[in-house]
Amino acid sequence: MRKVLYIKANIKPEGISRTFQVSDYFIEEYKKQHPEDEVIVLDLYQENIDFLRPADLEAMGQVNDETKKDTTILKYAYQFAEADKYVFAAPMWNLGFPAILKAYIDYITITGITFHYTAEGPKGLLQNKKAVHIVARGGEYGNAPYEMGDRYLKTILNFLGVDNIQTIAIENLDIVGADVAAKVNEGKEKAGLVVKEF
Ligand SMILES: Cc1cc2nc3c(=O)[nH]c(=O)nc-3n(C[C@H](O)[C@H](O)[C@H](O)COP(=O)(O)O)c2cc1C
Repeated sequence: MRKVLYIKANIKPEGISRTFQVSDYFIEEYKKQHPEDEVIVLDLYQENIDFLRPADLEAMGQVNDETKKDTTILKYAYQFAEADKYVFAAPMWNLGFPAILKAYIDYITITGITFHYTAEGPKGLLQNKKAVHIVARGGEYGNAPYEMGDRYLKTILNFLGVDNIQTIAIENLDIVGADVAAKVNEGKEKAGLVVKEF
């Protein structure tokens, strides 16, 4: 049985968010194809995620203390490390992704849990894992250098050791005259292909 962490980062609700329309479809298809797997939904806006505070920095230094495993920040980091696959659903906001996702990344990037320092420098501890980033965008970016959400997410996941990462982007949703329903359907078609190998 594999553990899939479905990380949702959007204030728009189900049905309204174009990102979630595609990511929910991805998850439904995944469940059909892998009924034995566990899917854990982590809706960041429903979670206890905040900017890092002094107590969090202290907790980061207590990774080897078993009694601290349930500290908010360490709890998320251990949960992340225990998952086998990650589905990130986060729209493009201001050339990046919603800030709550960065706050979550600050919770899970913990020395001794998801990466560690070696004589050669930092090394990711997350091996043989897969990730997909599902993202709706108002305009068109592809791999443009000023697109900093997907590129950052891939870079930090690589840093943590995850090297199998795919992106499902649904673009041009806010341009005048866009056929949004058709674009969302195209996104679902892409999701249907990616999920088969996920
Ligand atoms: C706060 C905010 C910032 C946004 N910034 C961008 C942006 O930089 N580039 C872009 O193409 N679209 C931007 N958009 C548009 C969204 O990416 C687009 O509407 C997308 O469909 C949102 O995904 P959702 O439908 O899942 O919420 C922004 C939207 C919001 C609400």
